Amino acid sequence: MSNTDYKFEGWGAFGPDSIEGKFKWFEYEPKEFADDDLDEVDSRRPTVPVKILYCGMCATDLHMASAGWFDMSAFYPLVVGHEIVGEVVRAGPMVEGGLKVGDIVGIGAQSDSCLKCARCREHKEEYCDEGQIGTYAAIYKRTSPGSKSRGGYANYWRGPSHFVVPIPSNLDPAAAAPMLCGGVTVFSPLIKYGAGTTAKDVGVIGIGGLGHFALLFAKAMGAEVTAISHSQRKVEDAKAMGATKFITTHGHVDDAIKGHERSLDLIICTTSDPNMPLSDYLRLLRPGGTFVMVGAPEVDAMPELHPFFFILNNVHLTGSAIGSPARICEMLQFAGDHNVRPWIKRFPLNEVNKAVPSMHAGEARYRYVLVNEDNGGKL
Ligand SMILES: NC(=O)c1ccc[n+]([C@@H]2O[C@H](COP(=O)([O-])OP(=O)(O)OC[C@H]3O[C@@H](n4cnc5c(N)ncnc54)[C@H](OP(=O)(O)O)[C@@H]3O)[C@@H](O)[C@H]2O)c1
Ligand SMILES: [Zn+2]
Ligand SMILES: [Zn+2]
Repeated sequence: MSNTDYKFEGWGAFGPDSIEGKFKWFEYEPKEFADDDLDEVDSRRPTVPVKILYCGMCATDLHMASAGWFDMSAFYPLVVGHEIVGEVVRAGPMVEGGLKVGDIVGIGAQSDSCLKCARCREHKEEYCDEGQIGTYAAIYKRTSPGSKSRGGYANYWRGPSHFVVPIPSNLDPAAAAPMLCGGVTVFSPLIKYGAGTTAKDVGVIGIGGLGHFALLFAKAMGAEVTAISHSQRKVEDAKAMGATKFITTHGHVDDAIKGHERSLDLIICTTSDPNMPLSDYLRLLRPGGTFVMVGAPEVDAMPELHPFFFILNNVHLTGSAIGSPARICEMLQFAGDHNVRPWIKRFPLNEVNKAVPSMHAGEARYRYVLVNEDNGGKL
């Protein structure tokens, strides 16, 4: 057992078929509690153990549990979940940000980085030169080298305090949970590419967990928002989230795009559709516009694009990964200030095997949040 009086237990994905409703509850060894190694300044930042109250369910959890992107055999049994809200239950004297026992805190999709490279020093830890340490399915290097990271479909979480943020008291902690990955992944490029300022017209492709956050945030930033979905099913919801235009791409994409060409300054693409009509989407951008890929379909390659398309239209194609702890804090503050309210549905933690297949079937409207009632989470 670890050096605590509580056990780390959670729902494990034991193989790719776990997402069919086959997660199993098990006990595991958490990350070693980081000690005060005086040779290495960074390793003097103790890890923070957190009693988990809520954990949002991100599509990445499903891609990873089912080995849709990568071979996961080295990581099974895998404890996924990286939209964690909980209560600090132990904090050493070196924790960052003044975190203390009893604080309600959040952890997103990244839980460590080198903290030394230029990217880390300028608060872009998500682009660390040594790579991100994911909140699950990674091996810690900086502290507790060799320990596996484990996520939030569990009762406790432990990890470096640098990646733990306080949850502001004006936010519902259950609703804040999915912001920690899904929210910040779209908030970050919306801010970076000027939604509502230099980018007046913003399009959002894929109205799922991330997409619904993109609509809510872009609207709150003052942009005119277009929702782009593969079906008509979400049109009313998208309007309620602030979209004023709706494009349905199912069927004849050409017809769908007609009249909307060169109407957008910024597109946030969240879809997981492996057959997305990328070149048609790019036609929606004005010259100088930016297309940001955040959705990550389970495919090996992107569709082919002709160089002249870029030359003659001067559009930018880029991607964006999650957001740094500083960006997460900025987003939580923005969400509180602008009363951004995510559309969530709560499931008891012990209903993981109901919630995951339902999410996999595309039924979430728009984010599922697991609630650990034993630890004090509220259904
Ligand atoms: N870049 C990052 O750092 C980052 C962070 C978090 C998540 N992600 C990735 O972002 C993607 C979206 O995550 P999410 O949690 O928002 O997922 P989600 O809730 O499942 O939403 C995905 C949306 O994509 C659209 N879609 C169209 N065709 C699809 C298909 N064949 N399969 C699945 N979805 C399809 C759907 O919207 P419509 O019905 O409106 O078409 C669906 O609601 C995932 O690939 C996830 O891994 C990336
Ligand atoms: Zn995520
Ligand atoms: Zn770094």
